[in-house]
Amino acid sequence: MLNPKTIQSDFPILNREINSKKLVYLDSASTSQKPQVMIDALTKYYTHTNANIHRAVYTLAEEATLAYEGTREEVRKFINARQMEEIIFTRNTTEAINLVAYTYGSANFKPGDTVMVSALEHHSNLVPWQQICEKTGATLKIVPLCTKPEKQYTLDLEWFKKNADSSLKLLAITQASNTTGTIVPIEKFIEIAHAHNAKVLIDGAQSTPHMPIDVQKINCDFFAFSSHKMLGPTGVGVLYGKRDLLEKMPPFMFGGDMIREVHQHKASWNELPWKFEAGTPNIADVVAFRAALKYLKNIGMGDILAHDQELVTYAKAQLAQHAPDVKIHAPKNSEEMTGIISFEIPGVHPHDIAEIFNSEGVAIRGGHHCAQPLMETLRVPATARMSFYLYNTPEDIDVAIAAIKKVQNIFAPGKFAPQIFSSGAL
Ligand SMILES: Cc1ncc(COP(=O)(O)O)c(C=O)c1O
Repeated sequence: MLNPKTIQSDFPILNREINSKKLVYLDSASTSQKPQVMIDALTKYYTHTNANIHRAVYTLAEEATLAYEGTREEVRKFINARQMEEIIFTRNTTEAINLVAYTYGSANFKPGDTVMVSALEHHSNLVPWQQICEKTGATLKIVPLCTKPEKQYTLDLEWFKKNADSSLKLLAITQASNTTGTIVPIEKFIEIAHAHNAKVLIDGAQSTPHMPIDVQKINCDFFAFSSHKMLGPTGVGVLYGKRDLLEKMPPFMFGGDMIREVHQHKASWNELPWKFEAGTPNIADVVAFRAALKYLKNIGMGDILAHDQELVTYAKAQLAQHAPDVKIHAPKNSEEMTGIISFEIPGVHPHDIAEIFNSEGVAIRGGHHCAQPLMETLRVPATARMSFYLYNTPEDIDVAIAAIKKVQNIFAPGKFAPQIFSSGAL
């Protein structure tokens, strides 16, 4: 099992104090913190290697190209894609999804077709499909949440089974919710979608940082994720696509590097994956991303998921014992979750909760988490969200519980707790 205390020492930012308290970072679902090895890789690239890639023949340019393409190979192995041609670097998950919507969607959707997303989606895996459906005349449908009490916060697979038919052209679905932490059994959805000859895009923004991913085993057609949520730099995303599909898709952006030949009035396109990487890419950050991938691999993705789930189980138990008034928006079974706990303290706005947490040195997110339709379904304007990662400990959760007590005391003095707990008291 991984040791979060040892891991913490690899993350220099975790030594920071906020409001004279040791930083407790519980917002990794937004973006993760960064290990020193990744920061060093970034600095080393700029101090030692920096040059543009794929063009010049001098040593620096060759080294930069090798380093950039080396990350592509590392990504390929990390998600077990068949070929490096299937790995495209984008700026983030959002851009990867837009790429598919604008190229595959524009070329393949027409009136009478159906595109489905789910009720758990982040705006990044909803709005592009709304737009492309509007443009092409296809109909957008939403896989709802299960209404059975024991299956709260999970998706209704039966509804999907009943409603998927030959009009379904694409299912775009998250593997893990950034709001409820729900892990979606995507293999089951993919099997049904494929039975109707529909393609499937998986939003892996919240799953890839927290669990082993094997795109061949999942058998998805497209898979998108972001480096910055998995210890890597901001500004790097990945789109995986099955090669035969990518070959047939038109380019997303036009310009340098994505062309084979250009004449005054026409041009032809480069091979995969460069056909989809127009202009000078984010070379340095892609290069440094490799260090993050190696770091995660070294720890073990299976162990990371087990650790996150242990923290979720611990947090649920502590909340039930010490703050029973707090409402948690999460599946019952922690094994169906990544490391996310969304919660409400009755009568207190999540922004106030987050402010008070910050006064205790605890970074959490309060808001709609870019999932406004999900907030509407849950009938809440917003939630407070703690999200855990490999550097978090049960003690971090104790500090969070103490912060909840503080919130309750401030908003209803004396009602909830006679005194404020301090770290380690629980
Ligand atoms: C499930 C999910 N999808 C997509 C995104 C968008 O990721 P990015 O902002 O890196 O494009 C996020 C970000 O929080 C997310 O949680």
